[in-house]
Amino acid sequence: MPEPETTELKTQVLPADAKGISAAAGVFARGGLVAFPTETVYGLGADASNAAAIAHLYQAKGRPAFNPLIAHVADLGAARRIGRFDATAERLAAAFWPGPLTLVVPQADGCPVADLATAGLDTVAIRVPAHPIARALLAAFGGAVVAPSANISGHVSPTTAAHVAADLTGRIDLILDGGPVEVGVESTIVGCFEAPALLRPGGVPSEAIEAVLGRPLARRVTAEMHAAEQPLAPGMLASHYAPRAAVRLEANDLAAGEALLAFGPVNLPGAAGAAAMLNLSPSGDPAEAATHLFGYLRSLDASGARSIAVMPIPNDGLGEAINDRLRRAAAPR
Ligand code: TXA
Ligand code: MG
Repeated sequence: MPEPETTELKTQVLPADAKGISAAAGVFARGGLVAFPTETVYGLGADASNAAAIAHLYQAKGRPAFNPLIAHVADLGAARRIGRFDATAERLAAAFWPGPLTLVVPQADGCPVADLATAGLDTVAIRVPAHPIARALLAAFGGAVVAPSANISGHVSPTTAAHVAADLTGRIDLILDGGPVEVGVESTIVGCFEAPALLRPGGVPSEAIEAVLGRPLARRVTAEMHAAEQPLAPGMLASHYAPRAAVRLEANDLAAGEALLAFGPVNLPGAAGAAAMLNLSPSGDPAEAATHLFGYLRSLDASGARSIAVMPIPNDGLGEAINDRLRRAAAPR
């Protein structure tokens, strides 16, 4: 994938203490770009009301400009100034915010989020993150911050400040280092439509959302979901989170030269000869596996193996989000 063009910036890395957070809020106010930790993955933030800053953000990530961004706010009050909350949205916000859930709702009158960030849609995606550093930063800045994952578009999402630096040094103003994230996969996205719909599985298991709503979520078929995520590149919709190595799913044996991304007890034929092996969760816990997913994909890729074989992972709990990300990592490019 060609690296996107952008003017070289001096990228500062600061610890996410009071000084770092106030510096970051200042960068937002001046229209700059800051990578910061959330509980899901590191985000690359810009002032949600500043179209020029958002244009730079798309450029720094090499992101198709038609793929809209999530507006991050400090609390439900701020969220209601951006979007219109119906009964479904209120219920989900009360149950899961702050936390790894994004709600897609109709834009409120006078919604301050720039059209560039909503890609011209009349809906807006909103999230109140739970991470204390993200919350402190939103409070210090005072406005909404749009933030996609802090990686070059199509690359594996970052779960540490070092992952961010590897992709975005020279392209953004500041990286706030708050250590490794807790959840490890992006937020679950629910469209608060007439029939509430799961738009992306993520950090809140869909079962938990359905339990609160008392009804099943509508699920868009995969092709539509991909089309919603990458409307500019219909030829390569599914491919995302792509390591350099090929990714082979549902592996029940290992070929020579392959690296192994394991889950649970490892007893598949050929495993002893793996070029490299990392186990997402030796005990078979999907939440633990989610915290390791993107980092282990990066490490196995760096081992130089031509292919990464992935053991089957059950779909329950965070397994649904993990399998979604793995399918995209494995999709033809
Ligand atoms: O956990 C997360 O959600 C992270 C952290 C940084 O908060 N952010 C994140 O953003 O994953 P990003 O840009 O990688 O993914 C945002 C997704 C995209 O798939 C986009 O298409 C979808 O949200 N989206 C945004 N606005 C939308 C809208 N109005 N309707 C439907 N989908 C929308
Ligand atoms: Mg992303």
